[in-house]
Amino acid sequence: MPYELVLLKNIHDPRVKEIDRYIELGGYKTAERVVKEITPKDVIETTKATGLRGRGGAGFPTGLKWSFVPKDTGKPVYLCCNADESEPGTCKDRVIIERDPHQLIEGIIIAAYAVDCHLAFIYIRGEFSLGYRILDKALQEAHRRGFLGRKIFGSAYDLEIILHSGAGAYICGEETGLIESLEGKRGHPRQKPPFPAVQGLYGCPTVVNNVETLANLPHIFNRGVEWFKSIGSNEKNTGPKLYCVSGQVNKPAVVERELGIPLMELINDVCGGVRNGNKLKGIIPGGSSVPILRPEECDVRMDFDSLAAKGTLLGSCGVIVIDETACMVRLALRTARFYAEETCGQCTQCREGTWWMEQVLHRIEYGHGKPEDLRMILDMCSNMKGVTICVLSDACAMPVEAMINKYREEFEYHIMEKRCMVSAHAHA
Ligand SMILES: Cc1cc2nc3c(=O)[nH]c(=O)nc-3n(C[C@H](O)[C@H](O)[C@H](O)COP(=O)(O)O)c2cc1C
Repeated sequence: MPYELVLLKNIHDPRVKEIDRYIELGGYKTAERVVKEITPKDVIETTKATGLRGRGGAGFPTGLKWSFVPKDTGKPVYLCCNADESEPGTCKDRVIIERDPHQLIEGIIIAAYAVDCHLAFIYIRGEFSLGYRILDKALQEAHRRGFLGRKIFGSAYDLEIILHSGAGAYICGEETGLIESLEGKRGHPRQKPPFPAVQGLYGCPTVVNNVETLANLPHIFNRGVEWFKSIGSNEKNTGPKLYCVSGQVNKPAVVERELGIPLMELINDVCGGVRNGNKLKGIIPGGSSVPILRPEECDVRMDFDSLAAKGTLLGSCGVIVIDETACMVRLALRTARFYAEETCGQCTQCREGTWWMEQVLHRIEYGHGKPEDLRMILDMCSNMKGVTICVLSDACAMPVEAMINKYREEFEYHIMEKRCMVSAHAHA
């Protein structure tokens, strides 16, 4: 059966950005019904029952996260929509923000209502200036209609949403870095626990959810739990999913399919296969921070658990296709450089490790590597995992470690022959 689009259904309608058109297509009816007819507790229970898991990277069950928010603390509850989207290879939230902003706002209203939040924030990546302008206009339109502000939709519920632009830091996508940044400080992640749901923004209970996660909510409350659960590979991996397919592929695109589409079906049938009919060398399934899969490992479903069973992650769903013309040493160096530039510097293993890894990979790439370098990098990798405040350090170590372990001969060739194996073969 052909897949029926949900999240991207209206993105090719240029007028859907305008509130009149969004309403014409049935928009905001669901949020209105939710705040008028369903109790917050039931919104949480319904969301739990769908099995919806966060689309920001960790795949944490959304309804369960909301249920951790303590009640009656006397403190306000905040909701932060994470629109920082900075993981290399990831560009899905941007499509929702720029093409169908009211879908996101409607999702925020439902989530905020569920956790008794009256002030929500959208933390948008600094570079998304177009998205900022589009969302800003959409928020103003929703306000004018009475869908935001006091007594929204004529109910007893008040909600304001503040749009906040970041300054272009990857670390501010990490939920506690985001919270620090919203408070006007440097985006330095906080030690957890306490988790934001208990002690987040301004010391108050705070839910942080990804754009795509929130965009699912109007559809869930419009079409129901069973409909949502009928999409996906199994009951732990449910719902529609956006895949950002890039790299050496014929039709790079942000595409929507069920969570758990077979990876090679996504690449070959949906995205036209590997560029120029070249041989596949590997696929990074979840953005630059996750371990690469070799071609023989690519017979896998794109869901949280199937990818975990292969030793990698769905992450932010940045699917990067790599063909035979790519040099793994160069890719490892490029990856390490990104994380070395983006580390916040709080933790020694991350600050020093990412920088040092870049230095050693740089010398291997440029023909000055030493035989002991690979053992040293792998040693660094094991000292960078699971030991820091946030997982940026792991995000550098995991992909580099996998590249060395799975394509070791290329790294050894660079060290011994002082040149690239890929270009040597291309010119042979
Ligand atoms: C270094 C780092 C960067 C992150 N960047 C993002 C991001 O850009 N967008 C996002 O939604 N989540 C990002 N996350 C995950 C968030 O910390 C958090 O888990 C997520 O926003 C929760 O939303 P969800 O439950 O809807 O997935 C990042 C995590 C880490 C460790």
